[in-house]
Amino acid sequence: MAVLSKLALAASLALCGVSAAGIPQQQHPLTAPSSSSSSSSHSSSHETASDYSSLPLIDTEALQDSISVDALFKRAEKFYKFAQTSEEDYGHPTRVIGSTGHERTLNYIVNTLLDQGDYYSISTQEFPVTLSNVFESQLVLGNDVSKSAVPMGLTPATKDREPVHGHLVLVKNNGCDASDYPQNVKGNIAFIRRGECAFGDKSIGAGKAGAKAAVIYNTEPEELHGTLGEPTEYHVATFGIDGTEGKKVADELASGESVSAIAYIDAEVKKIQTVNVLAQTDQGDQDNCVMLGGHSDGVAEGPGINDDGSGSMSVLEVAVQLTKFKVNNCVRFAWWAAEEEGLLGSDFYAASLSEEENQKIRLFMDYDMMASPNFAYQIYNATNAESPAGSEELRNLYVDWYKSKGLNYTFIPFDGRSDYDGFIRAGIPAGGIATGAEAVKTKEEAEMFGGRAGEWLDPCYHQLCDDLNNLNRTAWEVNTKLIAHSVATYALSFDGFPKRELDTEMNAYGKTMKYHGPKLIL
Ligand SMILES: *[C@@H]1O[C@H](CO)[C@@H](O)[C@H](O)[C@H]1NC(C)=O
Ligand SMILES: *[C@@H]1O[C@H](CO)[C@@H](O)[C@H](O)[C@H]1NC(C)=O
Ligand SMILES: *[C@@H]1O[C@H](CO)[C@@H](O)[C@H](O)[C@H]1NC(C)=O
Ligand SMILES: [Zn+2]
Repeated sequence: MAVLSKLALAASLALCGVSAAGIPQQQHPLTAPSSSSSSSSHSSSHETASDYSSLPLIDTEALQDSISVDALFKRAEKFYKFAQTSEEDYGHPTRVIGSTGHERTLNYIVNTLLDQGDYYSISTQEFPVTLSNVFESQLVLGNDVSKSAVPMGLTPATKDREPVHGHLVLVKNNGCDASDYPQNVKGNIAFIRRGECAFGDKSIGAGKAGAKAAVIYNTEPEELHGTLGEPTEYHVATFGIDGTEGKKVADELASGESVSAIAYIDAEVKKIQTVNVLAQTDQGDQDNCVMLGGHSDGVAEGPGINDDGSGSMSVLEVAVQLTKFKVNNCVRFAWWAAEEEGLLGSDFYAASLSEEENQKIRLFMDYDMMASPNFAYQIYNATNAESPAGSEELRNLYVDWYKSKGLNYTFIPFDGRSDYDGFIRAGIPAGGIATGAEAVKTKEEAEMFGGRAGEWLDPCYHQLCDDLNNLNRTAWEVNTKLIAHSVATYALSFDGFPKRELDTEMNAYGKTMKYHGPKLIL
């Protein structure tokens, strides 16, 4: 699960110029190793159909019974080992995008799917992600080292990755217009107030005016963590500082005092290619698919075993167990990359669907964080009034299942914090379940689910301790069975489930890009 951004605004992320990518098979198809028993290709659909006729028809109880928490834990141990391969580069285990831990995770998912013979058509969808690493930084304002300075996300380094010196020059208004930048910004350090336009625009404005670096100060007392967005040649090294330091310096400059500064950022911005992994059943109605997914990546701070090792492993285990069955409707599995960078993989996928391909997806089910140690059984409160028709039927499927097991559940906001977001905006019904991140467990929730009131639902959310000890076995097993139930239900039939609608308002809404990253942009 990604951090909720306070603002959702139009921004140019790495998602430019998406071409019409349609069915997964047309992307980068992967085939089973030739050592597998079936030497024939997928070319004969008749032959394929007869292969499946001997399998029993999908049955929810049978699929749920095939889920064992021990099998899930064996996968978790592998995920943790993958995370450890990043130790050399990151100093600790992580499966963050761009790390060997993430690469190993992707290979494992693909190889596990390939092991299922020709049950699935497997493909990858490549997309670019821009990453930045800040190795070292410091900002000196006058005689004092700034206590609140934070380099902006995706900031370039200072020249030659060395400290630069200059006078702080107060920029007029909010620094959103070229005329706001006085002549003497050239060769000095621009001092800019937050507001009105994106941080990235201010950094570009400072760069075009010839500044060596830029400092953006908050208008609130808090620290200013933000991102500059997609890099350009005009961006300069940019810090955010809090409102307390900001006001002090701004007042000094406004009264005509001269304040010198030293800015230093040693950083690297790089563009990498990563992939979404997709697997679709060869059998079943190919025009009516139930789709589900989890995210393959984690944050840099830790191994990401609950977030979202748990969900991506649950989805993988269900994909493996499903191969014992015949299905009526196609089932499409996804493992999204770069969720933690702002839902990039799922956004890229949903935005790149042609109208025809879009219509084939009857619904998308999101499985992110299935086993939080201090869990609650959470269902996204998706309604047909606010989301594409069918979202509420899916919500009710989860409700009915928990009720049938005598388990409690809570509704949580369907607010765009995970990979369902791109689907909703593309007009596709969606929903999902979760077990909680940094929300504090209430007394009522402790009565409903056990666990400890007053503590985070996942006390290790986005931290180093999101490891093998950060999984609740009960929650993981229960929720993976529910995932199996959701797949089995729609793989059998869409009876009573709303048909896809063309040209809904949601479709129009889905065409506007929003920013969902973990950082502020304005
Ligand atoms: C669920 O969403 C509906 C529609 O937005 C709202 O009326 C209802 O209060 C929500 N329920 C909960 C428990 O949040
Ligand atoms: C459900 O919650 C109630 C309190 O609201 C509690 O008494 C009950 O034991 C809970 N059920 C389960 C199965 O935990
Ligand atoms: C998982 O949660 C259940 C219910 O709160 C609890 O009884 C159990 O001890 C937990 N298990 C672990 C390994 O934390
Ligand atoms: Zn997540």
